[in-house]
Amino acid sequence: MKSEDQKPNKILVFNALPYANGPIHIGHLVGYIQADIWVRFQKLQGLQCLYLCASDAHGTPIMLSAEEIGVEPRDLATKYTLQHQEDFSDFLIQFDNYHTTDSKENKELVETIFASLSGAGHIEKKIIEQAYDEQQKMFLPDRYVRGECPNCGQVDQYGDSCEHCGSTYKTTDLINPISVLSGEKPSLKTSEHYFLKLKNFESMLKGWIETIDIHDSVKAKLGEWFVTGLRNWDISRDEPYFGFKIPGEESKYFYVWLDAPVGYLASLKHLCDQDNNPYQYDDYFSKDTTTRLIHFIGKDIIYFHTLFWPAVLEGSGLKKPDGIYVNGFLTVNGKKMSKSRGTLIKARTYLKQLNPEYLRYYYAYKLSSGIDDIDLDSNDFINRVNSDLVGKWVNIASRCAKFINDDFNNQLSSTINDPELLANFQGEADAIAAMYQNRETGQAMRAIMALADRANQYLDQQKPWVLAKDESQKHQVQSICTMGLNLFYVLMIYLKPVVPSIVKNAEIFLNAEKRQWSDVGETLIDHQIRDYNPLLVRLKTEDIDAIIDASL
Ligand code: 2FM
Ligand code: ZN
Repeated sequence: MKSEDQKPNKILVFNALPYANGPIHIGHLVGYIQADIWVRFQKLQGLQCLYLCASDAHGTPIMLSAEEIGVEPRDLATKYTLQHQEDFSDFLIQFDNYHTTDSKENKELVETIFASLSGAGHIEKKIIEQAYDEQQKMFLPDRYVRGECPNCGQVDQYGDSCEHCGSTYKTTDLINPISVLSGEKPSLKTSEHYFLKLKNFESMLKGWIETIDIHDSVKAKLGEWFVTGLRNWDISRDEPYFGFKIPGEESKYFYVWLDAPVGYLASLKHLCDQDNNPYQYDDYFSKDTTTRLIHFIGKDIIYFHTLFWPAVLEGSGLKKPDGIYVNGFLTVNGKKMSKSRGTLIKARTYLKQLNPEYLRYYYAYKLSSGIDDIDLDSNDFINRVNSDLVGKWVNIASRCAKFINDDFNNQLSSTINDPELLANFQGEADAIAAMYQNRETGQAMRAIMALADRANQYLDQQKPWVLAKDESQKHQVQSICTMGLNLFYVLMIYLKPVVPSIVKNAEIFLNAEKRQWSDVGETLIDHQIRDYNPLLVRLKTEDIDAIIDASL
């Protein structure tokens, strides 16, 4: 892994674009929360970091879903685009721009990129044979054909791979194939397709992968693909299709996986084209820019982002990514999410019941830079949130606040009771920053909670609640509680990327708003705070049960 010690002047971060053909669920949120935490951390450091996303609006599934309910695919995509934006915003995922691949910017960009690739000799046309549904009058994508695996004979397998033995094959090799759409046996039909000559980029890709920030396990996967050999990539689809028509063709469209990543650029273009915006499109994607370009993606789309996408960018003279950060999937209570277990939980179902920051904290606690799946275990979730956020961190404030509020007219003392301990807390800033920077958020949460334990031990030893009974110790009580609130303040800054809204309320309580990472060294003395209102309530088993019931 490449270390990141120099700070770039600009960072551009993209989250994978969600398909606009259904609601997002808590599994999707792993990658979005991970990226949002990373971006918030960059911004807290005072860096210029743009965080962009968009809807992935095209393709066969959305076309068929729309047909089934009798609406236009575009209208269905718009409905889900708006829904996703609300879900993201309510989970405090704060994009600087959210656009759609079904946009004029994207159409122009895809056409320009395709023209550049063709002009540079990176596109070829070839006649191929594909499964065709005579009844539906359409070519069938691999996922729409099922049959027996040619390798192990397992029935009811997809057209491209077998879930039983793991082998991959051509749809035309499937035994007794049927169309998922009509239930009929597909015929074979030929058609001319456009291919990106991925082989042209093989040596570039092998070199590029050595220069970027990418986890070793992802790099190892790429190594395997290089050994198997890169195959040219089919970037066209025949009608009926929902997407952009290929210029000069009557009935052929760009494959959704070509226009989807171009949607990253379209989102940037859309932002840069807005009136009075401070951003220049060319600062970000021209080949010589010093902007750091980062993608956060799920582990199922590594191939697209580490092979096709950099090839497309290189072939059209654009900048390639500097980092590809990959997250694993979510399991719930140790199993794949499932509707019948009530664990396929929609973002909105969760939000109706619970504070989004519980989940943000839990994911932060479970996440690392690796691509292993993370598990949301209901009991562990409840314990973690209650014991860490409520029982450790918030507890520091609630133990100290009432003395300062009630007995000292909200005034903090003019001295710090244990400057050495406070300096220790402040001295962890660089180590914790490095953990955030390297996406080792689990490590960061453990380090922060270890400090919270020390703060609580300090209060246990000092016992301000005992001293408060003795009038002669009044000054000491103020000094101890001031100390406690200063420790709370340091941890508040450390937790800000993860639980921004709770931190906002904590900042209001401390009368110390809009704090940046560098403010961790500030000491709150001779300072007026505000009345304390509980920052967070405990999570209850019934809350989780209600979510599961609503998801069944
Ligand atoms: O796998 C998916 O959910 C795709 N919609 C991701 C697209 S990311 C990008 F390339 F557009
Ligand atoms: Zn098989």
